[in-house]
Amino acid sequence: MGFRYVAFEGDPVGAKRKVLQCRNLLRVQSTYVCMRARCNEHEIEVGMKAIDDDCKGKTFDWSVIDNITQSDEAGFHQIGYEDLRKKKPKYDEPLTLTDHLYELSWRTMYEREEADSDEWNYGHAMLGFWGGVVGIGLLNRIFTLVLSWLDRGSYGQNRPNRVMSKLRTWTRKHITTPGLFGYHCSHPLGYCTIPPRLQALTVFAYVTLNVVLSSVDYHAFHNNLSYELKSSQIYRYFADRCGFFSLVNMPILWIFAMRNDVLIWLTGWTYATYNRFHRWAARLATLEALLHGIFYTVSYLQSGKKKYNLESKRRFFWMGIISVSCMCLLCAFSVRPIRKRFYEFFLLCHIAFAALILVGVYYHLKIFLEEFIGYTWACVALWSVDRVCRVIRIASLNRIGHQSIAVYNPEAQTIKLDVPVRSWFRPKQGSYYFVYLMHGSKVWENHPFTLSSWTISSPSETTGAATRRPRPKNVNLSFIIRPQQGFTARLRDLVVMNSRNTKDQEAGATGGAVPIRRFQSPVRVLVEGPYGVPQTLRLDRYNSALLIIGGSGITVALGHLRSLLDVLETQMPIRLQRITLVWAVRDAAMFFEVFDDELGDFWRRQSSQTTSRLKLQIDLHISDPIAIMQYSASIAGDGPSSRSDPEKITCLTSTSTVPTSTPKGKRYAELPPHVNVIYKRPPIQNIIESEASLCSDKGHSLAIVACGPSRMVDDTRAAVVAEMHNGHDCITFFPEQM
Ligand SMILES: Cc1cc2nc3c(=O)[nH]c(=O)nc-3n(C[C@H](O)[C@H](O)[C@H](O)COP(=O)(O)OP(=O)(O)OC[C@H]3O[C@@H](n4cnc5c(N)ncnc54)[C@H](O)[C@@H]3O)c2cc1C
Ligand SMILES: NC(=O)c1ccc[n+]([C@@H]2O[C@H](COP(=O)([O-])OP(=O)(O)OC[C@H]3O[C@@H](n4cnc5c(N)ncnc54)[C@H](OP(=O)(O)O)[C@@H]3O)[C@@H](O)[C@H]2O)c1
Repeated sequence: MGFRYVAFEGDPVGAKRKVLQCRNLLRVQSTYVCMRARCNEHEIEVGMKAIDDDCKGKTFDWSVIDNITQSDEAGFHQIGYEDLRKKKPKYDEPLTLTDHLYELSWRTMYEREEADSDEWNYGHAMLGFWGGVVGIGLLNRIFTLVLSWLDRGSYGQNRPNRVMSKLRTWTRKHITTPGLFGYHCSHPLGYCTIPPRLQALTVFAYVTLNVVLSSVDYHAFHNNLSYELKSSQIYRYFADRCGFFSLVNMPILWIFAMRNDVLIWLTGWTYATYNRFHRWAARLATLEALLHGIFYTVSYLQSGKKKYNLESKRRFFWMGIISVSCMCLLCAFSVRPIRKRFYEFFLLCHIAFAALILVGVYYHLKIFLEEFIGYTWACVALWSVDRVCRVIRIASLNRIGHQSIAVYNPEAQTIKLDVPVRSWFRPKQGSYYFVYLMHGSKVWENHPFTLSSWTISSPSETTGAATRRPRPKNVNLSFIIRPQQGFTARLRDLVVMNSRNTKDQEAGATGGAVPIRRFQSPVRVLVEGPYGVPQTLRLDRYNSALLIIGGSGITVALGHLRSLLDVLETQMPIRLQRITLVWAVRDAAMFFEVFDDELGDFWRRQSSQTTSRLKLQIDLHISDPIAIMQYSASIAGDGPSSRSDPEKITCLTSTSTVPTSTPKGKRYAELPPHVNVIYKRPPIQNIIESEASLCSDKGHSLAIVACGPSRMVDDTRAAVVAEMHNGHDCITFFPEQM
């Protein structure tokens, strides 16, 4: 080390320091003599290996000092620390080091190695942290599966271990169900989304780990041979550590961004959960890369402007600048307002910048050790695997030559999309698929939609006959889509443009009411899926279920009902006895659109022996102020039983007074029992309070599912937490998160 900072006659001009020590006999002899005098055999072996690695095997043999005796050595010129700081003469003889310079050289190397090993260990602690988090998630999953397997035949008669059960209840009440603090969770607070408490704590621990591990264990000393000032040493070590942390965080953020993520499968946590982790890993990686750049720049400038100018011309330097700039821009373009308003722009920027970052980081690191490059390749590998899996899913699922049918109901503001696919597996409730529209120029654009229903048409499935050779099933997947402004609006416009503008087939069924116009058209779409972790939420494992749904969130409820029909038809006893569906819609048209089809299917089949074991009650809440006013007016003139205060009389059932004066009123009259039509928003707190009172029955378990506008989901969460604190421990809450 000490000889690195002196010049010998014959040093190749412009060569790097590492190369110098391989090429110049005087320098090599000085080094070897120093090693012989001050190191033991093992140290010499290690030192020679290091030199050999640096010189790629091309250096002088140890025998070049065979002829140098101890008395020769005593006659060598001895250099001290002060000599290094003087104007450098070129030495034409081998040198030795003073004890002081030797100590400084040794300490400089030692501290550098310590800094490198801390950087390595602390950086990998990040991987260890996420390994631990995923490991806990996996254990929890296994534990839950084992419990439900043990409980499968007893239908709640086997009570799990009391301590475990108390622990689970406590965890649900205080950690897994509530938002981080206060009300906000699904609904954003300003521009920020606040994760649920457990996720927030995990993120907090991760950020803390990054901050603490990037701040501790720096050892600077005066007269370090590499960086004289203590501050320079700290800047340099800190910059290195931040750079390495940023690099380690990159595969982490990539793995959390994958649609086809094995971690989702292992832990049963949703994509939304991993997406939150992804965002934090990305923010940290960006901040660390930025600090890496800033502190390296400061450290170069401390070594003089000349050094800075020299470095800034090198490719690694400006590739680093490109990468950091892209990372910052990527974070800036991912803020919620941009994501919400210009989703496609956000997505395109994300992909383009991510690719640029990888290229930039690759060339930034190419000049360093090979091992760093591995992290870049890991990201490339994860990205490629995800993309390949997407293509495989599309190729294996879609049936070429079979067109999908889309039906748009303008009154209900919904598009029903039926897609024929072939699938090796039965579709499951709660899964979602990405839909691609193969019309127009944006065929790459794809959006997620929850599966609302499905039919299986392969003969082997419908008859239940065992087939010898397994073949994929022909499955029809149904989606309910609420048109927004982008992709979904294009789909709607396409259907309207292409449609035959047919009258609804079932118009007669409305009892002569105004026929509903629907637009129907074949469309070319591709679907990619299924995604989601349906196994985690099975309503048949609870005694009762309450579904709090807003608008198009009904797809989630329909998926569960469809799946329950399958379970009921197996004739196996199930624990679930009662489902209450509370569905808020702006206008009843959406309800009838679904009721005529998917929900009606459940009612029709429910009257059969097989499904009558399960009671379904629907509370339909209509929130449109005009509909509420019309309703109030109609009941005001409806005779003695009517009351004019809409707040008091807001609930009508098919068995109670029905305002048949409106076209919709006629349809209400045809509704089956236990459908309540209520003209106001659902009072979520009251609903949950009354449902939670069932918990007083010993051993009762209640699943509450919420899907709809974010405020509705947060209201439900808040009410559930309040009930849990009121001692109603039987509730498990399942928010459908975006
Ligand atoms: C898991 C999941 C399941 C869903 N299931 C349904 C469903 O069954 N029925 C339904 O009507 N809607 C569903 N949605 C919402 C649906 O994906 C969006 O409404 C749709 O992507 C909007 O497309 P757009 O271009 O018309 O939206 P825009 O009008 O451009 O934007 C409307 C909103 O949709 C969001 N959005 C836009 N593109 C995407 C995207 N690719 N991924 C996620 N969000 C996006 C935007 O941030 C914005 O908030 C689901 C969303 C998720 C995440
Ligand atoms: N994750 C999934 O799987 C999935 C699937 C489908 C849909 N979704 C999401 O579900 C949402 C549904 O949107 P939409 O446009 O179809 O619904 P919407 O029409 O905006 O709202 C539906 C109903 O919910 C009521 N509502 C809203 N907030 C409420 C609250 N806090 N308390 C009580 N009632 C409330 C509304 O009343 P007002 O009219 O008074 O506001 C309205 O009647 C979207 O965000 C969609 O992305 C998610």
